[in-house]
Amino acid sequence: MEYITFALAKGRLANLTIDLLELSGISCKEISKDSRKLIFVNEEEKLKFVLVKPSDVPTYVEYGAADIGVSGRDTLLEEGRTLYEVGDLGFGKCKMVVAGPKEYIGNIDKLNNKRVATKYPRIASDYFNTVKRETIEIIKLNGSVELAPLVGLSEVIVDIVESGSTLKENGLVVLEEICDLSARLIVNRVSMKMKSDRISEIIKKIKTYLDKGEIN
Ligand code: PRP
Repeated sequence: MEYITFALAKGRLANLTIDLLELSGISCKEISKDSRKLIFVNEEEKLKFVLVKPSDVPTYVEYGAADIGVSGRDTLLEEGRTLYEVGDLGFGKCKMVVAGPKEYIGNIDKLNNKRVATKYPRIASDYFNTVKRETIEIIKLNGSVELAPLVGLSEVIVDIVESGSTLKENGLVVLEEICDLSARLIVNRVSMKMKSDRISEIIKKIKTYLDKGEIN
């Protein structure tokens, strides 16, 4: 039997994904959360698990280095990779928003040529340039995006809000909601055909568990 390689996003989604797989009857008990190892093998079930940076999950899946994976919708929208999105896993729920100081509530549209700091340049540009038909300047950051308006690097940010505490603790508010996000199950296009039996079995196990409605 051929191996199926599963790409898991390190960080926030990892534990939730591992729990979901275990509850769906896909054993990944080999994965040691405290180890620095990046690849784990379940020899019995011919499954490999690779732990990758969240933003790299779609890349591994698009190129077939992983057959299947779990990725946030934010990463999928930002990366724009060619792959199949086969299900909404219902966890990792959050929103992509435009946020900034409360002075901009109700008048963000009057702010011309604003600077938008974000880890998501494609999502930010699609939203402002295509949806709102506005010209903006995008400032790409790799983290701690909420700092940008506080130190004059940008007027607003485009970022994820989950609990809202990062915005609150930095005196920022949501100005506009862009879209809802959650974790998605993704599959490589060739694997879907060439390894269809095993991939379908995995998707079915996960969907059967999710349909029981015990997650969220
Ligand atoms: C994410 C996101 C926000 C925060 C939102 O950052 O970019 O900063 O989480 O979560 P909250 O609404 O529950 O506070 P992350 O923790 O991934 O860290 P980063 O700033 O280093 O990217």
